[in-house]
Amino acid sequence: MKRNIFPGLLLIAVITSSIFGVACKDKKTIGPSYTDWTSPAKSETSAAPSSSVAETPTPEPTATPTPEPTATPTPSPSPTPVPEYVEPTIEGGPVWYSGYVDPRSVRAEIVSNPDDIAVLVNKYYASPQSYVPELVYAKYSAGQQLRPEAAAAWEAMHDACLADIGEDLYLISGYRDWATQTYSFNNAIPRRGLDKAVCKNAYPGRSEHPLGLALDINIKSDPEIRDNFVYTKAGQWVLAHGHEYGFIWRYPADKGHITGYGVEGWHFRFVGVEVATEMHDKNISTLEEYYGKPQILPDTYNE
Ligand code: DAL
Ligand code: ZN
Repeated sequence: MKRNIFPGLLLIAVITSSIFGVACKDKKTIGPSYTDWTSPAKSETSAAPSSSVAETPTPEPTATPTPEPTATPTPSPSPTPVPEYVEPTIEGGPVWYSGYVDPRSVRAEIVSNPDDIAVLVNKYYASPQSYVPELVYAKYSAGQQLRPEAAAAWEAMHDACLADIGEDLYLISGYRDWATQTYSFNNAIPRRGLDKAVCKNAYPGRSEHPLGLALDINIKSDPEIRDNFVYTKAGQWVLAHGHEYGFIWRYPADKGHITGYGVEGWHFRFVGVEVATEMHDKNISTLEEYYGKPQILPDTYNE
């Protein structure tokens, strides 16, 4: 009854990710972990996470005046038709880097249903800044919080995975508040470079983590974010069975042009059993496709 489509998908993913992943320069095999958000999350006071960003005072050059080479690529205003649900906030419209829109260049629609467990939040649809979901502490995590529905499903999936294949799933990052997400995005720009930051880190409001419905996971013996989690034994099990508990793999390797993010082998989203199972059964691999709202690429992106 359950279709084991993952070996095939894996092959497709490897091939197609060389198309879209390259733009994001994702490491789809074993890659370094990253923990952008851990600093402010640990010091909950987080007085000024956003101010700790790229505003470092620059020592004045002592040399003769020289024309400054521009380090960052010049954003070219996109001629792309703007999706009707997007209002450009920068004169000229959305700005793209290697096929990924800079979220700061689009004003997202604020969703009216942030409490809906299947709500679509991405670069075009944002949760309200004031929104804080009901939260509980999740089992099998280092003090991470989730929406109660997601926490219960996580516990059930964890236990099933352990019983089935002996893998001890572990939640590394669940709910993140606005300040933490702001820190994560702002910190990523100088650390990663803008082109990588916009395909990896969500702008405040555009992340699923503040919904309490997103889970960055691995196994307990390796409690780090790993690009290759979905290719491990535990990850393959989650890919095959996650929908039975209401989870989807949110940023698949070959769907960056649709989700607006590069592959994230660790990030899963609770959407509820009904939606997850429908997506599984209909072979719909992104929430954007499920809702018929894919990221709209610039004309130039498709060669
Ligand atoms: N890395 C995902 C897109 C987030 O920051 O929510
Ligand atoms: Zn995540």
